Amino acid sequence: MIELTPENAESFARKIFVNDRVKKESEWHIFHSKAVEETALLLAEGSYVDRDILREAAWLIDIGQTIGNDVNHPLRSLEIAREEFELPGKLKDCIINHENLNEPLCDEARIIQIADKVSVLRPELINLFCKYSKVNPLEKEWNIKFVNRILKGIPDLLRKL
Ligand SMILES: [Fe+2]
Repeated sequence: MIELTPENAESFARKIFVNDRVKKESEWHIFHSKAVEETALLLAEGSYVDRDILREAAWLIDIGQTIGNDVNHPLRSLEIAREEFELPGKLKDCIINHENLNEPLCDEARIIQIADKVSVLRPELINLFCKYSKVNPLEKEWNIKFVNRILKGIPDLLRKL
């Protein structure tokens, strides 16, 4: 067990992502996690949420998603994270419930759920989509479906704010 801090969560996740078998997956996960962290902190401005939990969650929610966009990855992320860190309840909530269909219990998890979705529209991530689509045109359709699914979930998430 190592001490749970935002810095340790980030370096643990980076190690996992760098070992991804597919180079572009690793690049995507690192960009995405950074984007979720920054977006979550912006969404949290003015509220009394635990910022360390937000930063740790941003890096840990997808560590179980090393290949593809697997719907079961939140539980796998939790399993991997709890082997390394003692996880407080709020952080578990963030990891398990960050997908669209789930209902987070705490405000931190609600913020992470939204940040996970709206951060997909950041320019550096759109840039990655363009890059991957050019390398493999088949991926273009997959990427469009992925963005479409993410965007469709945003209005419902905003309603819950
Ligand atoms: Fe995820």
